[in-house]
Amino acid sequence: MCGIVGYIGGKDALPILIEGLKHLEYRGYDSAGVAILGETLSVVKTQGRIADLEKKLKGKTFKGSVGIGHTRWATHGAPNDKNAHPHYSESKNIVVVHNGIIENYLELKKMLIKEGHTFRSETDTEVIAYLIESFYEGDLLKAVSKAVNMLEGSFALGVMSKDEKNRFVAVRKDSPLVVGIGKGENFIASDIPAVLPYTKDVIILENGDIAEVKRDGVNLFDLKLNPIKRNVQKITWSVDDAKKGGFKHFMLKEIFEEPHVIREAMRGRVNGDEIEIPELESDILKGINRVYFVACGTAYHAGVVGKYLAEKFLKIPAEAEVASEFRYRDPLVDKNTLLFVISQSGETADTLAALRLGKKKGAKTIGIVNVVGSSVSRETDRVVYINAGPEIAVASTKAYVAQVEVIALTILYLAKLLNKLSPEEEKRFANEFKLLPEKAEEILKQSDRIAEFAYTTKNIEETFYIGRNLDYALSLEGALKLKEISYVHAEGYPAGELKHGPLALVTPKSLIIAIDTYAPLREKTLSNIKEVKARGGKVLAIASEGYEKIKEVADKVFFVPQTLNELSPVISVIPLQLIAYYIAESRGLDIDKPRNLAKSVTVE
Ligand code: M6R
Repeated sequence: MCGIVGYIGGKDALPILIEGLKHLEYRGYDSAGVAILGETLSVVKTQGRIADLEKKLKGKTFKGSVGIGHTRWATHGAPNDKNAHPHYSESKNIVVVHNGIIENYLELKKMLIKEGHTFRSETDTEVIAYLIESFYEGDLLKAVSKAVNMLEGSFALGVMSKDEKNRFVAVRKDSPLVVGIGKGENFIASDIPAVLPYTKDVIILENGDIAEVKRDGVNLFDLKLNPIKRNVQKITWSVDDAKKGGFKHFMLKEIFEEPHVIREAMRGRVNGDEIEIPELESDILKGINRVYFVACGTAYHAGVVGKYLAEKFLKIPAEAEVASEFRYRDPLVDKNTLLFVISQSGETADTLAALRLGKKKGAKTIGIVNVVGSSVSRETDRVVYINAGPEIAVASTKAYVAQVEVIALTILYLAKLLNKLSPEEEKRFANEFKLLPEKAEEILKQSDRIAEFAYTTKNIEETFYIGRNLDYALSLEGALKLKEISYVHAEGYPAGELKHGPLALVTPKSLIIAIDTYAPLREKTLSNIKEVKARGGKVLAIASEGYEKIKEVADKVFFVPQTLNELSPVISVIPLQLIAYYIAESRGLDIDKPRNLAKSVTVE
């Protein structure tokens, strides 16, 4: 997730681009840059935040009323000056800013290198500039349309040509992009807040739309350059509301981003009927006889999912460990151990210490990380990024979804390397992964019903989340979400363990949230629900569609679409996140910044 902006009009472009980028900084702040077209073309970029870019620009004048800008959330290549956008072709005729991931960039890069191009960065974006240049014959619009037809992946692009001072071109596929319509001036941006200080009239581009943006108008085309029309919408939100995309809190916005996040996390990893993790070499499991998942908080709960999947598919002993415990034990780790280190921020102190201990003992390490260039990503032998984009709310939601998805993909890929996953099974999983974004959308459509339930439950004092197998892993995460933002005491428990103690606490005042999506054990969990009901407890069940029987036992049921048992955590966590969110909201709490907590815990 990055932020892009563009301006053409009668004013100096630079201050408008900088102001726009500031509104998009929430989308990433690894580096920032602008390209301004006046008498000449100037490109200025730097590692760091917009404030660092402003420092670099201080005292210099860049005259020009056309420009594009970028704030980066690194995906390909470290966050440094060289990888910062805008990127340009050797002749500097074509300048590009990009948000998204180009899946076939290595292929294209090889082709362009053969044609004699020399690359300056490690990014996927640089190929776009070269590709457009190779098609450029005096018409930027045509060159862009030809180039984007060769791109696979997701992209929102702003493209300028030094030779065309009266227009720039924008394109969108699977990454957001809006066009702001002004008077004698027009804009593009990854999100509405960046254009709101200048205009309330916007066009939300759809996949495959190309915009030719001029001072006096905007022309829209499809990818074959047939003219198309889109409605202009009047935005009535304030800039502050708009940053949250109209959502009341970042947490809710991030939950609603999950279908997109699921799609991005599998990009380049699910290809046709195949699952592949290109970041991992094929002999990575050589000699491995033990697997650990170490992490903290929500990331640890993703590790619990990993443990179940690794045991099942790799048939190697696997453990999930809380990093703060692991680091102070004498864990049985040696060169035959594979250590998965899971972290959204990549900076959690205990997780880093556990990683360093594992390395000292000789383990091979794989990071499952969101923030590119973070400490965990630098210190692990291999890193598989989850590509969830910046997560702002303290309570982790979309990162968890991407973590469990990437862990599942990785374990299935490793199983394939060990010949423990047949081509038929691989195909079944690959095809099911592709359906997950739509299934997540289906769940989000129930959010009003979930909110209604949460509002009627807001005064609860205690909850138990129960489940078996992967549903147990989910129960841990459901309980943590509720605790941290609503301050209601909650425990995640293996459903079969309830009668060994906690059942004593169940009274008619108790709420039990039973997760019952794991088909092989659903009858067992159903029996545990009955035990709770017999003690007068109130039960909300999260179950897979089609398991109608559960309605006769639970007080309330939210159904989630059916998927393969092993992939259920990716989507079944969504109702749990929404329940926690709406209970906290109905209690009027500071959801994005819960008391006593920080987004990244860099002290032990
Ligand atoms: O950045 P990390 O994934 O390493 O963070 C780990 C935990 O601190 C984090 O998941 C924390 O538990 C969240 N607040 C949970 O929502």
